[in-house]
Amino acid sequence: MSVLFSPFELNGIKLRNRIAVPPMCQYSAVNGYTNDWHQTHYASIARGGAGLVIVEATAVSPEGRITPSCLGLWEDGQKEGLSIIASSIKKAGAVPGIQIAHAGRKACANRPWEGDDHIPSDAPEAWETIAPSAIPFGGGLNRTPRKMTLEDIERVKADFVAAARRAKESGFEWLELHFAHGYLAQSFFSDHSNQRVDHYGGSFENRARFILETLEAVRDIWPAKFALTARLGVIEYDGRDTETLEESIELARRMRVLGIDLLNVSVNFVIPDTHIPWGETAFLAPIAASVKREANIPVASSWGLDNPFVAQQVVESGQMDLVMIGRAMLANPHYPHLLAHALEIKHPDWTLPAPYAHWLERYRGAAQYPVRLLGDA
Ligand SMILES: Cc1cc2nc3c(=O)[nH]c(=O)nc-3n(C[C@H](O)[C@H](O)[C@H](O)COP(=O)(O)O)c2cc1C
Repeated sequence: MSVLFSPFELNGIKLRNRIAVPPMCQYSAVNGYTNDWHQTHYASIARGGAGLVIVEATAVSPEGRITPSCLGLWEDGQKEGLSIIASSIKKAGAVPGIQIAHAGRKACANRPWEGDDHIPSDAPEAWETIAPSAIPFGGGLNRTPRKMTLEDIERVKADFVAAARRAKESGFEWLELHFAHGYLAQSFFSDHSNQRVDHYGGSFENRARFILETLEAVRDIWPAKFALTARLGVIEYDGRDTETLEESIELARRMRVLGIDLLNVSVNFVIPDTHIPWGETAFLAPIAASVKREANIPVASSWGLDNPFVAQQVVESGQMDLVMIGRAMLANPHYPHLLAHALEIKHPDWTLPAPYAHWLERYRGAAQYPVRLLGDA
């Protein structure tokens, strides 16, 4: 029996297996609205057999977009397209999830394949960026953000709540609050980016306040029968890792007490110059495991977990509850099918869509349709 292909339950939500597709920006929206690209992309990914599909970082306000082409949920009209996506994910047998986000000082950027840098502030499509302190990220994202007032903080929290409500009304059953990757929430928690002297900066309590207050406000309106989760960077790889991880675990404990159901453990990405061990297989797995153990909370994680034996091992050993597989799903939306083959699972407890399964399952072994994983020769 494969743990990777066994169901996972969280509150009232049941995933058909432990494979999740993490949020991945498509940078293809206009004014935050979905279009046929998103409809096709998410439907085909969901038909690939993962238990959970999380729609990309969806901005809670226009200013919170990473790029002008990011999705949004700041107005009711944006719900229609997203509800079609939630419904198609569900029809394909996966749980529909969505990540809501505010990019903070990393907002207003060009798309990755068009530079990944800040749009010049005098360009017609540019907007003002905001952050806890007027400190730029650096590198290509070197625009100095405006330091947020207390009114700004209240407004952004309210934007998270309104977007969460629209996500619920659009049919999503799994909400991920984006508190990672150097975006607004993560930048409140890190003293690299937060030098405030009011009660949102300085001590651990103060730096954690924006995240905890936002979470608490969203918890009030998000149904208890659905999953409320967050993505949190827990380590910066800047040489202060023990201290950052300890603080992050304490934050995770407090998030659990406030009602978070699962944490998607990730990297901080608050500063550009770090020493992330990209070359090490499953480098975040032991870190995710320590968050799970010490904060006593279910965890998921990603970054290079797509090797079948690695994916199987990290859930079988209990290091994490869900394995997030991103780029391999872009390369082949039916990647879970390939994982099952590699693990020699004869009757995986999930199915390909019938119009594919008839051919691929029936003729499997006949080698007319060789099964290749990423990295295979
Ligand atoms: C095209 C692309 C877009 C991404 N967009 C997001 C996003 O919207 N939100 C997020 O938290 N992470 C985002 N990520 C990071 C992924 O969720 C994931 O953590 C990363 O791809 C590592 O997993 P992998 O090694 O399986 O690809 C993105 C990654 C890619 C490749």
